[in-house]
Amino acid sequence: MAADMIKAMRIHSHGGPEVLTWEDIEIAPPGPGEARVRHTAIALNFSDINIRRGGFYQKDPLPMPLIPGNEAAGVVTSVGEGVTAVNPGDRVGYVGVGFGFFAKTGAYAQERNVPTERLAHLPDGISDVQAAAVMLKGLTASNIVNRIYRPAPGDHVLIHAAASGVGLILTQWCKYFGAVVIGTVGKDSKAAIARAHGAAHTILYRQMDFVSEVKAIVPQGVRAVLDGVGKDTFEKSMDCTAPFGTLVNYGNASGHVPPIDIMQLSLKGTLSMWRPGVSHFLGDPTRFKELCGELFDLVEMGVLKTVAARTYPLHEARQAHIDAEQAAFAGPVVLLP
Ligand SMILES: NC(=O)c1ccc[n+]([C@@H]2O[C@H](COP(=O)([O-])OP(=O)(O)OC[C@H]3O[C@@H](n4cnc5c(N)ncnc54)[C@H](OP(=O)(O)O)[C@@H]3O)[C@@H](O)[C@H]2O)c1
Repeated sequence: MAADMIKAMRIHSHGGPEVLTWEDIEIAPPGPGEARVRHTAIALNFSDINIRRGGFYQKDPLPMPLIPGNEAAGVVTSVGEGVTAVNPGDRVGYVGVGFGFFAKTGAYAQERNVPTERLAHLPDGISDVQAAAVMLKGLTASNIVNRIYRPAPGDHVLIHAAASGVGLILTQWCKYFGAVVIGTVGKDSKAAIARAHGAAHTILYRQMDFVSEVKAIVPQGVRAVLDGVGKDTFEKSMDCTAPFGTLVNYGNASGHVPPIDIMQLSLKGTLSMWRPGVSHFLGDPTRFKELCGELFDLVEMGVLKTVAARTYPLHEARQAHIDAEQAAFAGPVVLLP
């Protein structure tokens, strides 16, 4: 079978949003164990920005040119040799195409060949845009609340950037377990959204000292801090945490957390600290599908409400990156091919 021509956003070097270019590329037929997926909705994740900027935590330079993106939903159009798990016409979604998650990008394209073990079938009750908006962000939240720190009823939990894509899902999931969520947000409009999704308290952390604000709400400190902001928030968060509390840094929207002297964990109250990566959590393909099933069930039950994703045409991914870098809007962003 001959290669097909499709359109994709590519980068030829690291840099600002301007390095994203809309190009014609060749795509080979699906190989053994692969399916060709015609994308209908592609997630923008903050890691796409980190990959584009360069200096993300890969040991080796990424081969150029590269197509960013790790997550999409779509329809199977053809399958390679030996494939029985999916059929043409199936609605599917994926998060990464195998280990080396951030090195194996390629979702910012009209079509892509994906190993079928990495594809999850989408239920009828979940739209393609909803799936692209919720999978990686929801599985990141799932990793935290199911494996690292499960809130007990009444626990106070501090969630930084509570109106972000991951933050909104964490807020709802912690509330579902009975936690009292304190959410930091960059502006008033985001505070309203965080509260509408279950935050009991919100703090404008760019304008106020969030440590004293948290202590005013819960003088003994919170049981856990869930932090996707990183550099600007993580160290100070130790001062918000109750003895034996848990700090989870899952992202670096403001930059990498500086090195921390491990003695601080003792001095600040015998704290524990985690830095999860979703790709380890999703390494086993069977587990990935089970976790997608659990996530989709919670969305269909209305426990996790997906705020309407902000959508951009895929060829306008540059603008989507600019808006995400400026933290302009709350919630998830989806690119439409
Ligand atoms: N560990 C993992 O496996 C994993 C998985 C998924 C995501 N992540 C990471 O989690 C973080 C959040 O992801 P997301 O999808 O929720 O991102 P997002 O929706 O783009 O939100 C990021 C939020 O961070 C806040 N922020 C603070 N300083 C910022 C800065 N200098 N530039 C941009 N935003 C800044 C902003 O909220 P305010 O305006 O409220 O301050 C912004 O809306 C990212 O670092 C992402 O890479 C990690």
